[in-house]
Amino acid sequence: MFTPTAIGFVRSPYTDTKAIPKGLGARHDAEGVLEILPEFEPGLTDVEGFSHLFVLWTFDRSEGFELIGCPPIDERPHGVFATRSPRRPNPIALTVVELLGRDGRLLRVRGVDMLDGTPILDIKPYLSSVPAEKLRRGWIAEAEERGRS
Ligand SMILES: C[S@@+](CC[C@H](N)C(=O)[O-])C[C@H]1O[C@@H](n2cnc3c(N)ncnc32)[C@H](O)[C@@H]1O
Repeated sequence: MFTPTAIGFVRSPYTDTKAIPKGLGARHDAEGVLEILPEFEPGLTDVEGFSHLFVLWTFDRSEGFELIGCPPIDERPHGVFATRSPRRPNPIALTVVELLGRDGRLLRVRGVDMLDGTPILDIKPYLSSVPAEKLRRGWIAEAEERGRS
């Protein structure tokens, strides 16, 4: 295995998890900045051409994990690997953000759902090759259906 190190930090409007939208239909429109450390800036070469990015980051302020738990959008329990819970065996998170612009080692993005100062592990271009009609949304679709009725 390897010891992860931060390639940068997120500048986000959120300083409290309670302020981050949660629940069915929650929208993530908040803007923030991915501040990449100077030694990694050459790795951003050509990133401007992509509209969206995958950001891998760490839940640095969550403790422990729960293999079965109830997410905020459902009163029914689910396995941690069927959710996006912050309390997981390896506290790694994945967020898709829209790239609004780049100023040197600063990436302005929309769609942050992480706290200010969150360490960034990696950035990759977002490329989706799965056609919408092939996607199944599991228990989330069921919870949404129950919420409508
Ligand atoms: C449900 S997780 C989803 C994160 C990511 N989009 C994913 O799917 O892996 C988002 C929640 O993690 C929590 N969170 C955000 N930043 C965090 C941090 N740095 N440490 C621990 N928890 C954090 C907040 O409660 C936020 O609403």
